Amino acid sequence: MRWLVTGGAGYIGAHVVAALQEAAVECIVIDDLSTGRAARVPFGVPLLRADVRDGAAVREAFRRHRPDGVIHLAARKDVAESTAHPLRYYQDNLDGLRAVLAAVAATGTRSVLFSSSAAVYGTPRRSPVREQDATEPANAYGRTKLIGEWMLRDAAAGGGFRWAALRYFNVAGAAAPHLRDEGGSNLVPRLLRAAELGIPATVYGTDYPTADGTAVRDYVHVADIADAHVRAALALAADEVRDEVLNVGRGEGASVLQMIAAVGRALGRPLPYDEAPRRTGDPAAVVASPARIRARLGWRARHNLHAIVTSSIAEVAKAA
Ligand code: WQD
Repeated sequence: MRWLVTGGAGYIGAHVVAALQEAAVECIVIDDLSTGRAARVPFGVPLLRADVRDGAAVREAFRRHRPDGVIHLAARKDVAESTAHPLRYYQDNLDGLRAVLAAVAATGTRSVLFSSSAAVYGTPRRSPVREQDATEPANAYGRTKLIGEWMLRDAAAGGGFRWAALRYFNVAGAAAPHLRDEGGSNLVPRLLRAAELGIPATVYGTDYPTADGTAVRDYVHVADIADAHVRAALALAADEVRDEVLNVGRGEGASVLQMIAAVGRALGRPLPYDEAPRRTGDPAAVVASPARIRARLGWRARHNLHAIVTSSIAEVAKAA
């Protein structure tokens, strides 16, 4: 079996490629290396350096490699940037998906796996949040992911291909040092950077209606996210799932203060922190119900919070 992976040189994409290889699925990566890094792509995996919005280049890749399916991860993912430059997000994220879907249609590719996000829920009306709950994204980034799901549904309506969209919750950790998250704008990399620099971490908001007053999220190890992709790809190829939206989270919340404590425990010394006002638009609690992905794919997270944090620290220490 052979799958195309767009964004396969990125933090999550490279973990997906590594997991596919382990499952003996052949991969071809399309990545423009704007945020991805060639060094993350394993030796022997073809890396086509192309912009995923370039319809001709994408179609040519599908024609040449005749993949059984495509995993589409190539996209912008910075929420703050999406608020400052919304049209850049609409253009890049949706033109990229459109080019992929056009190539799928042109070549009769059977399966599409799309990288979606918990950002489609905005502030969930209940926690844990289920796939059928209201989708009210609070920023342009989340809206591009929700529109992406709609595009998939519409493009597949004629029965041309099977699809699944994975709604990732808060992805963290690393399976190997060279695969780590270099973007660094999310909580775990920020906590580790503060520890490295010997400066206090920042807690945004201590007056949330949660047990300790800080925001609660569902942190999930990137290796578990990668495993969800492998299972979804195999299930799509076998026609065991079709037209599915699936949460990928552990179903357990952790507050910012609990994350700071977990990092402190892993480092063997407490991590000092300052309190700051809430970030605008941040929901109090976002926790997945993983019931559907468990039922459909037999997936469950194998890494707990400790593993997420220690793998992030090990990766920083080894890469330093
Ligand atoms: C987590 C919590 C912060 C940094 C975003 C996207 C989401 C997904 C993941 C892609 C929040 C708090 C953070 C810090 C803090 N991306 N925080 N101090 O905002 O939950 O999710 O990234 O799909 O769609 O919205 O993630 O890691 O930025 O923040 O107190 O230094 O930690 O306020 O409550 P977020 P995050």
